[in-house]
Amino acid sequence: MSKRKDSKAADAGAASSSSRAEIITGLNEDLAREYKAIIQYVVFSVALKGAEYGDIAEQLKKHASQELGHALEVARQIDYLGGNPTVVGKEAEFSSDSKEMLEIDLRGEQETIKNYRQRIRQAEAAGEYALSEALRDIISEEQDHEIDLKDALGLR
Ligand SMILES: [Fe+2]
Ligand SMILES: [Fe+2]
Repeated sequence: MSKRKDSKAADAGAASSSSRAEIITGLNEDLAREYKAIIQYVVFSVALKGAEYGDIAEQLKKHASQELGHALEVARQIDYLGGNPTVVGKEAEFSSDSKEMLEIDLRGEQETIKNYRQRIRQAEAAGEYALSEALRDIISEEQDHEIDLKDALGLR
């Protein structure tokens, strides 16, 4: 009887460690997307040309700082879960056209939001509630970034 109980506990342990490994893998993808976002926001904030883009260029600088905050938090969460934060970012994109720069950023934000939604579901399924709360704080800033970009592109 106690043997059955032990094996059940071992099964539960195996299940949670495999979901933890999946979460770490996913968070490293998220971290790589944050590095890419930092690079793009730094570069695009100075590369955007045109009087009509003055406001959004200032907002992109703020996005860059917030993406760094997200990268630091995601790295901290990976470390806490026993993983190693990646040193490799997703490849940054570039365009010499101001509108295309904003479209690149918008697609990036939408991809990021989709992935954080999935990560929040995984965290909650694994009972990692502190992680899901940290991710909710991040996703609300990503949604603000998406709104800023849509406003600048006249999509709202
Ligand atoms: Fe971010
Ligand atoms: Fe963002």
